[in-house]
Amino acid sequence: MTTSPYGVQTAARSTAVAARATDLSKVYGQGETRVVALDAVSVEFRQAEFTAIMGPSGSGKSTLMHCMAGLDTVSGGSARIGDTELTSLNDKKLTRLRRDKIGFIFQAFNLLPTLTALENITLPMDIAGRKPDRQWLDMVVETVGLSGRLKHRPNQLSGGQQQRVAVARALAGKPEIMFADEPTGNLDSRSGAEVLGFLRNSVRELGQTVVMVTHDPVAASYADRVVFLADGRIVDEMREPTADAVLDRMKRFDAKGRTS
Ligand SMILES: Nc1ncnc2c1ncn2[C@@H]1O[C@H](COP(=O)(O)OP(=O)(O)OP(=O)(O)O)[C@@H](O)[C@H]1O
Ligand SMILES: [Mg+2]
Repeated sequence: MTTSPYGVQTAARSTAVAARATDLSKVYGQGETRVVALDAVSVEFRQAEFTAIMGPSGSGKSTLMHCMAGLDTVSGGSARIGDTELTSLNDKKLTRLRRDKIGFIFQAFNLLPTLTALENITLPMDIAGRKPDRQWLDMVVETVGLSGRLKHRPNQLSGGQQQRVAVARALAGKPEIMFADEPTGNLDSRSGAEVLGFLRNSVRELGQTVVMVTHDPVAASYADRVVFLADGRIVDEMREPTADAVLDRMKRFDAKGRTS
């Protein structure tokens, strides 16, 4: 095992589980509008691992992220963060767990326009009344390459820089796990590569756990592992993905999102 410049031991990948879904189901609506968005999904996300979630539109990717991050209720089964069963928590405890242990990057950056980059980054901690760990914060800011932009407001930043603020905000509170829903969906390829490189570094060097939804095989190739969803079920998994291998696998989904 080696220690990175950040003091995080990285060489031996942890086998501890950061989050786990067991027979997780989510049903929206009833009668004619009933949709089974997740159909008994079981999946593990290990600590210090970068997982990409892929699958056709409507296959349940965002629903899985929202249920695992405690942003949505589940209809059946279990969703755990570390040892904590989310379905057993009341609203107050769930809010606290989200705040303390989970980072979420939304596709729309959700930055507050009147706050500077730095104020946006520390906002969740400010709301929680927590003092940021200065050393960690400096390191996150430097790693995302925002050191020279901390006093800028979102409209003074490029799209890629805004997304990096959103990434830094999700990381600033040292979450145990970070969920990112198409974090590069509306970035140009260079900004996208910056954000993906940073997410990968946060796993390799900071020991973070990242789960990322993406439609882009190149983005998926930054991950250690790709999990494929179709019709609310996990249909395949790939380790050490390459963009070509992911693209080939995606082609086997038919027009209705089913797998062959
Ligand atoms: N609030 C909701 N009410 C009713 N149905 C919903 C709701 N949210 C999602 N669904 C349905 O659940 C299914 C899964 O949706 P989800 O958003 O998880 O898909 P996705 O894989 O993220 O798709 P995309 O790639 O288009 O973002 C879809 O059929 C969708 O219509
Ligand atoms: Mg989605």
